[in-house]
Amino acid sequence: MSPFTAEEKEAMKAEAGIAACAFVESGMQIGIGTGSTVKYTILELGRRIREEGLKISGIPTSDATESLSIEQGIPMLNWRDCDYLDLVIDGADEFDPHLHLIKGGGGALLREKIVAESSGGMIVVADASKRVDVLGAFPLPIEVNPYGWEQTKRRIESLCSGTVELRGPDYRTDNGNPILDAHFGPNISDPIQMEADLRAIAGVVEVGLFTNTADVVVLAAPGGCELIRKPTARL
Ligand code: A5P
Repeated sequence: MSPFTAEEKEAMKAEAGIAACAFVESGMQIGIGTGSTVKYTILELGRRIREEGLKISGIPTSDATESLSIEQGIPMLNWRDCDYLDLVIDGADEFDPHLHLIKGGGGALLREKIVAESSGGMIVVADASKRVDVLGAFPLPIEVNPYGWEQTKRRIESLCSGTVELRGPDYRTDNGNPILDAHFGPNISDPIQMEADLRAIAGVVEVGLFTNTADVVVLAAPGGCELIRKPTARL
């Protein structure tokens, strides 16, 4: 059970989401993540555009993020005109001491990975409940092709000691695909290998393991905000 109340968690999300905006400068093209923490980043960027004249543009990682970003006055780019982003700010469901991540609780993992791989750096915004020693307590989201998803599920099960569940019979990502949530338990000791093994299964579209992708975690805890930087951080 989380040691934090819902109010404490919300306050931490706001703090992390806003603090990450310190990395954003006029002239940047940024990736805009998805989730309840990045929501505060989008609101803060909107405020800076209106009140401080901040000039940025962005690529959203989900339809929900696109709507909120437009509402906040953030100019949107698309991949026809953009081949590089200065940085991306995104949330995570878990991060470990090496800053490997589980993402995709909100179902946006495929677009989030495309954006992260196209960015000059990745900033993760997280509250203290997301910090773990070993990944896997949070069920790992895996986006799969609808064709033969039952067989893809069986093949994933052969790599997973726990259960693998279809995220709702009618659930579809923004890309029209189902998601399987794999209950590994907190024992994904080699996330790099596991990401590669899962991606090698035909039918797997993308895996919610983001390894060697994040540079910095902006971590909000009840005592305040902390920046955790990887030794090789690009930002
Ligand atoms: C969206 O698919 C996810 O990867 C989110 O970034 C992640 O679930 C974190 O979301 P919250 O900030 O809402 O916890």
